[in-house]
Amino acid sequence: MRTYLVTGGAGFIGSNYIHYMFRKYGDEIRIINVDALTYAGNLANLKDLEDRGNYTFIHADITDKPAIGKIFKENDIDRVVHFAAESHVDRSITTPEVFVTTNVLGTAVMLNSAKAAWERPDGTYPEGKKFLHVSTDEVYGSLPDDGKSYFYETTPYSPHSPYSASKAGSDFLVKSYMDTYHFPANITNTSNNYGPYQFPEKLIPLLINNALSGRELPVYGDGMNIRDWLYVDDHAKGIDMVQEQGKLFETYNIGGHNEKRNIEIVHLVIDTLLELLPEDDPRRANVSRDLIRFVGDRKGHDRRYAIAPDKIKAEIGWEPETKFEDGIRKTIRWYLDNQEWLQNVTSGDYQSYYEKMYSNR
Ligand code: NAD
Ligand code: TYD
Repeated sequence: MRTYLVTGGAGFIGSNYIHYMFRKYGDEIRIINVDALTYAGNLANLKDLEDRGNYTFIHADITDKPAIGKIFKENDIDRVVHFAAESHVDRSITTPEVFVTTNVLGTAVMLNSAKAAWERPDGTYPEGKKFLHVSTDEVYGSLPDDGKSYFYETTPYSPHSPYSASKAGSDFLVKSYMDTYHFPANITNTSNNYGPYQFPEKLIPLLINNALSGRELPVYGDGMNIRDWLYVDDHAKGIDMVQEQGKLFETYNIGGHNEKRNIEIVHLVIDTLLELLPEDDPRRANVSRDLIRFVGDRKGHDRRYAIAPDKIKAEIGWEPETKFEDGIRKTIRWYLDNQEWLQNVTSGDYQSYYEKMYSNR
């Protein structure tokens, strides 16, 4: 039975990935999820898995060398899928240090622990030991708003935010392990994800949460920035396909030719909420375009991201399957059906985060 060590599995993409993997492989695999449970980590995302014999949660920080070393010592890990990171650009602008600690140092600890556990005395690695580093297209910087330039695996890195700089640093560390030690790894650089369990600091769940409670919808700058949106299950599938079918030591970009301007997303979320909310739901009265408020721009705001997923399509046969209209409906339906989840994650610290981040924009 193959054993996976998933880091950051209590977060948005990690928890969707774990669900995807159990749907796909059932009892053929074992998953160990290691997560520090920061504000972004939530065990409620995995509640339905708690009684599974082939799923284990370990509460640990990826920068904690002894704790991570112990996990490798006590378990014969075949695959590492490394999601754990500080992931929000706005937070990286106010508190950059923790991004360096978790994203760079944490990745170094993960790499070194896997290397120590896997490497043979002659410097080779057993067949089937693989490390997949989950990264972002933001490492490539910003594209012109021309509708025809794209990020490729060969695009030079040009990160602008402390978040993307720290992810670039972690990518370079993984590359250095592959080049120096022939360490068996892959890197995936993916565009903006959306779907269930996303923390409402990111654009789409923040809009849903605010609109439902009649709060303003903050749009940074002119609202014309472009992001390339990918449904989270399509990402999970891409990660698994890269790890099983990709060539070792290669980078694959995962994205969906699904570019939208932020203001289009705002309009779509409002329209879809009005379509899905029942006539007698009191929250309907809150949802309106009048909530839109253009606010001060994000510092260093990247204009456009867009991935050309040509390599992953040609070599592995991966393509996004979820149409945006369907994905956004599924996502909004999930938030409507999981109000308790939303209430729990927005109680406590979230309020003070929100005040601090948005009060003087
Ligand atoms: P998230 O913020 O929702 O989840 C991050 C998880 O990592 C949380 O469960 C958190 O508790 C955990 N974590 C944070 N610091 C940790 C530490 N020091 N030790 C152990 N666990 C720690 O993030 P996400 O959106 O699910 O992103 C997952 C990964 O995918 C990240 O590496 C991110 O850079 C990358 N990525 C995200 C997107 C996106 O659109 N969200 C796009 C491309 C790539
Ligand atoms: P976000 O979800 O933070 O993802 P990223 O910065 O990693 O792309 O933001 C997506 C886009 O939405 C980005 O251009 C910034 C913008 N945005 C707003 O206009 N208002 C908001 O309140 C937030 C959180 C983001």
